[in-house]
Amino acid sequence: MRRVEAASCAMNNGTCLNLVCAAITGALLLSSPNARAQNPTPVPIFPPPGFTIPPADAPCILPGNKLDLQCIITNDPDAKRIRMEEATLFQQALTAFKSGTLDPFHQVETLGKLEIFDPNLSVNSNLACSFCHDPMAGYANGSSILSIYTGGSNPGSVPITVPGAYPNNRIAKRNPQSYVYAPYFPPLQFNVTQGDFYGGNFWDARATGFRLQNSSAEQAQDPPLDTQEMANPDSACVVWKLSKSVYAPFFEKVWGSGSLSGINFPANTAQLCSIPGGAVNPPAQKLPLSPTDRTHAQQAYDYFGLAIAAYEIGSEVSPFTSRFDAFLAGSAKLIARLRPVPRQGELQHLPSRRSFEYPSSG
Ligand code: HEC
Repeated sequence: MRRVEAASCAMNNGTCLNLVCAAITGALLLSSPNARAQNPTPVPIFPPPGFTIPPADAPCILPGNKLDLQCIITNDPDAKRIRMEEATLFQQALTAFKSGTLDPFHQVETLGKLEIFDPNLSVNSNLACSFCHDPMAGYANGSSILSIYTGGSNPGSVPITVPGAYPNNRIAKRNPQSYVYAPYFPPLQFNVTQGDFYGGNFWDARATGFRLQNSSAEQAQDPPLDTQEMANPDSACVVWKLSKSVYAPFFEKVWGSGSLSGINFPANTAQLCSIPGGAVNPPAQKLPLSPTDRTHAQQAYDYFGLAIAAYEIGSEVSPFTSRFDAFLAGSAKLIARLRPVPRQGELQHLPSRRSFEYPSSG
């Protein structure tokens, strides 16, 4: 049996390309002292079994399983779907705000929704938060082709136009997390009982939240300035874009009149704000604001983050509708289950859906 599997590895042109082969290779490595030198690190098959490349993406696949990212941004069916969704949700939020019926609580939340679904807040006005945090995918990466080829990392706002450069678009370093329940993480703190850090946002908790005492609000201030993501050269550019947006009056309704319009932006703001963060030719630079205007712009940028955190913590994003939540709400009860004591070396599985019973739904 082992010999048959090993032969199928060899058929893949000498490279063991799938997981079964990788496992068998591992077994061979243990049994043969010379095998290590003969078997290079296994690389995954592209595309993996069961994944069909959407026909529209086919022209974007380059030799060596690389992606033409600009082609993906334009053609990928998921990317197109996400942009349509975000336009719809943006309009939905705008209509809600314009209705004049929102209470102050929902006004802040809806302002955050407008900001999250607004592609104009990126340097090239082409990338909203939601492109990487797709509502249909639980507010995480929603593009299947990217899941397979980049591990879920999404392209940012800025194309790379140097001929032959790869990748041909700036791209985020990691897989985007979901923002569901993210605002429930407190500012980063050391928990003495656990002897470990707790709280903060991002995989590495670097959005500590210490300044605003709100990790998610501070997290939201990061992507607009991340050179691989929305790539604005200055937070004041985001504020300037907010001041030009259709929802600027709503921003001022929530945060007070003058919160945007009271800032004196220099005459060449549009030109300076069109140069991506990190660019050297022409060089990216901060807006030359007076100290007072700088403080004012920072305040508006804090408000921008706080509104986003308000949207993320709201029931539309963080709904608390899991089975465990149903149990806590008293609409499902935990069923005591007798389970065999696991034998040594056996995994003990977490409770499955059968551990809950919903009396109301039968
Ligand atoms: C180009 C893709 C991209 C864009 C655009 C983007 N994000 Fe993210 N987001 C990521 C990635 C990647 C991470 C994880 C980064 C890390 O941990 O270093 C992340 C992490 C997060 C987290 C952390 C969740 C947690 O549990 O700690 C939140 C919240 C979030 N993003 C919200 C936003 C908001 C709000 C915006 C817009 C202002 C935005 N993102 C724009 C890719 C993106």
